[in-house]
Amino acid sequence: MKAIVIESDKSLSWQEQPEPPLGADQVAIAVRTTAVNRADLMQRAGLYPPPPGASEILGLECAGEIKAVGTSVSQWQVGDRVCALLAGGGYAETVVCHADHVLPIPAGFDFIQATALPEVFATAWMNLFMLAELQPGQKAILHAGASGVGTAAIQLCKAQGNPVFVTVGDQAKLDSCMALGADGGHVRTEGDFETAVKEWAGKTGVAAILDPVGGNYLEQNIRCLDTDGSLVIIGLMGGRTGSLDLGRLLVKRIRVIGSTLRSRSDAAKAAVIAQMREQVWPRFEQGILKPIVHSTFPIDQASQAFDLVASNQTTGKVILELPS
Ligand SMILES: NC(=O)c1ccc[n+]([C@@H]2O[C@H](COP(=O)([O-])OP(=O)(O)OC[C@H]3O[C@@H](n4cnc5c(N)ncnc54)[C@H](OP(=O)(O)O)[C@@H]3O)[C@@H](O)[C@H]2O)c1
Repeated sequence: MKAIVIESDKSLSWQEQPEPPLGADQVAIAVRTTAVNRADLMQRAGLYPPPPGASEILGLECAGEIKAVGTSVSQWQVGDRVCALLAGGGYAETVVCHADHVLPIPAGFDFIQATALPEVFATAWMNLFMLAELQPGQKAILHAGASGVGTAAIQLCKAQGNPVFVTVGDQAKLDSCMALGADGGHVRTEGDFETAVKEWAGKTGVAAILDPVGGNYLEQNIRCLDTDGSLVIIGLMGGRTGSLDLGRLLVKRIRVIGSTLRSRSDAAKAAVIAQMREQVWPRFEQGILKPIVHSTFPIDQASQAFDLVASNQTTGKVILELPS
């Protein structure tokens, strides 16, 4: 099979690689589309190695057709059109993954639309509704609101009845987030977000914050949280250290949760996928939720796609298409 390989000079090349072996509880997928995630950019740079046992090949999600099933797999058949959450290996003609990390392509969706779903909707769902336990009506802040994860989270919050406030890089992104269902927002280049949040949420603050920024947002985040609120840190784009007022944390019974999806156990990921199938997937077919695709590149132009994502100019997902 062909796959993207990271060369010693960090360039990406589409070249022959060995097929991955198929385990008893796995399926093999003939990949038609995959996507660019920030984790792929970090892995390419040598800053984010794959978890133990995962493929060294980039790619955290894909859509395609099942081409083989392991001996203990009964829920999938050869030829099924699926998308999947991967620990790695998506930038290849064939990927293997646990059968419980696979979802059917929603009716009416093509491979490009389906690839835009697993990683960002699973991340948003798990962190906001499973870990932060956001209840209907409670308010949330989503930093990087126009990101792949942010655009999924806005839609999920709207569908669940949670008003959301976003932070973004420019006014056009803020307009896109409002059109998707955000109720308030702030352009991060125009100063601190805390004042704007307090005007929007009132003095009590919000119940949850989904934060891929980290360090330089920590103090403001804590001040924006209501009693019993949760700060879920999913990325460190703004640095890994910050100052934390433990007094405020204690008195307001605030939870700070560090969270990664990729390194979780197969069982934990299967639990997220099962909830997605039950509570999120029907809403794609009802038209309540939709994939947000910024652009699509042929996979042999992965490097240009990575540059676009790194430029912070995207709203939603950047997809890579394999030759058919
Ligand atoms: N922990 C997990 O399991 C998990 C899973 C998936 C993703 N993530 C993380 O979630 C984040 C979003 O991922 P994605 O793939 O959806 O990203 P994406 O679509 O590439 O969007 C990322 C956006 O973050 C904003 N940004 C960049 N640098 C920033 C900074 N220093 N401070 C504030 N905002 C900044 C930019 O938008 P603006 O210019 O509009 O602000 C950028 O477009 C990433 O940090 C990713 O690593 C974590």
